[in-house]
Amino acid sequence: MDKILDMISEEMQQAFEQAGYDRELGRVTLSNRPDLCEFQCNGAMAGAKKYKKAPIMIADEVAQKLDRTQVFSEVTAIAPGFLNLKIKPEFITAYLTKMRKEDKFGLDMPEKPEKIIVDYGGPNVAKPLHVGHLRSAIIGESIKRICRFSGHEVIGDIHLGDWGLPMGLIITELKERQPGLIYFDEGFEGEYPKEPPFTISELEEIYPTASGKSKEDAAYKEAAMNATFKLQSGVRGYRALWKHILDVSVEDLKKNYQNLNVEFDLWKGESDVHDLIPGMVRYMKEEGYAKISEGALVVDVKEETDTKEIPPCMILKSDGAALYHTTDLATIMDRMKTYEPDRLIYLTDKRQELYFEQVFRCARKTKLVNDDTKLIHIGFGTMNGKDGKPYKTRQGGVPRLENLIAEINEEMLRKIKENSESKKYEIEEKEAAEISRIVALAAIKYGDLSNQASKDYIFDIDRFTSFEGDTGPYILYTVVRIKSILNKYQEQGKALEDAALQDAAGEPEKALMLEIAKFNAVMQSAAEEAAPHKLCAYIYEIANAFNRFYHETKILSEEDPQKQAGWIALLVLAKEILETCIELLGFSAPERM
Ligand code: ARG
Repeated sequence: MDKILDMISEEMQQAFEQAGYDRELGRVTLSNRPDLCEFQCNGAMAGAKKYKKAPIMIADEVAQKLDRTQVFSEVTAIAPGFLNLKIKPEFITAYLTKMRKEDKFGLDMPEKPEKIIVDYGGPNVAKPLHVGHLRSAIIGESIKRICRFSGHEVIGDIHLGDWGLPMGLIITELKERQPGLIYFDEGFEGEYPKEPPFTISELEEIYPTASGKSKEDAAYKEAAMNATFKLQSGVRGYRALWKHILDVSVEDLKKNYQNLNVEFDLWKGESDVHDLIPGMVRYMKEEGYAKISEGALVVDVKEETDTKEIPPCMILKSDGAALYHTTDLATIMDRMKTYEPDRLIYLTDKRQELYFEQVFRCARKTKLVNDDTKLIHIGFGTMNGKDGKPYKTRQGGVPRLENLIAEINEEMLRKIKENSESKKYEIEEKEAAEISRIVALAAIKYGDLSNQASKDYIFDIDRFTSFEGDTGPYILYTVVRIKSILNKYQEQGKALEDAALQDAAGEPEKALMLEIAKFNAVMQSAAEEAAPHKLCAYIYEIANAFNRFYHETKILSEEDPQKQAGWIALLVLAKEILETCIELLGFSAPERM
């Protein structure tokens, strides 16, 4: 359905036209002075020069054309030539009533839905998830959900780092510790054991140990490189061992992502395209895209318009080894062939910006993608501590994600208990823990998503877990409050379904209705720009408008049943909108908190 701002603009544009002016001048915007009006139009100011007329005269003429409007309750031309606008309550009622009836609150579906692959998460096998992985998972998950809700076909791929030297390092360390393992017996032709020879915690200890050793010991590093080579060339025992590493690690990752309410459609990784690399390299050479430079195989990706140096994209090192670029390019090739996506979205730290610029240019130049395939890198900023530096544990290390989540869970539990004491409701330990988990996740995710992705932000547990201000818990608290009113209304023996929206009588009620009415405009731009923070801003405004309305209105003791039902209908809609939006942000609300 049409956006409310477009409908209002249309009315204004007709008035400009009738008054003899260019209709384009009639564009309406949100008000800069919410104390004076709900919307405004500055077209008379813009037209003054062209029509050689004082803007206030134009504004007056336009206002007169609107004396019988069905849209505006007030059209005021004020000096020097602004048109201040207020909307008729019945116009908003009709708009929201339609929203309630339509699928997805009247959000228009795209004429040509796109197929989109979102590449996010990007953890590395056998390494614990740390805070650096948090943003990719949170933002990527939300973008995936928003695009899907907006009518596109979306595939989320985790793109595991599961190939290359780290794997060789682990294998080398295992060989040092357990040289007798059957996997190292080159003559063995039987079936390898189903049970892995290590646990996840052992694995997580083995990798850093091996990596440390390789930095000090050249022979060890040599051995690791050799193991990597053997693995990649398909030595059976090494492949079998690698499969164990992958399985053990993926099982653990699945648990971790599940706790974050993050779900991938594909669990593919760098290893999946290993066999495609030789063919891709041959193609790039044959077509004359790639050339040898200082022994390495590269594709030039500079462009004349570049203002900064864009180095060539390296495809093979001088020793013939593939690189990070190589696997990403082969993955693009694979994705194009398997899924034919219209758009590829990557989420990583913004320090990989230049890297993706190279990869995208190379993919275009070598025609791995179609001319109209959109390649988008969303580089996000750093999660900082209160000192403004990258977030660290108290001991100074990079915190594990699990520990960070545990910390915020604990703080949330404390607050939930405190709240139940002050509100004097009994809560059992188990329920309190469950609620804390739900609210803590909202605290973390909203704290991240409410910032524009490219910006750094400060991870502030006190602020994020607060029930007041622009926070996840505040949003959830609002949802819980609405649910509680609706429950009590039903306990009075009245049905939610029978409640019909009424024209707003008071200002706070009208303000809430106007906020809600922005839904399709917000959702569309959040999807187009892959910008979950727009959704956050929208629900924050709704929560504020609702709470203002709530404090000024005695909903449950209202005696006029029609008026009361109208409010209830508005609350039902507000709740549905809020719940839909938080679902798209990747969290949910508890029944109470
Ligand atoms: N595993 C990589 C890392 O830890 C991130 C992968 C991002 N995705 C991609 N297609 N390159 O840096």
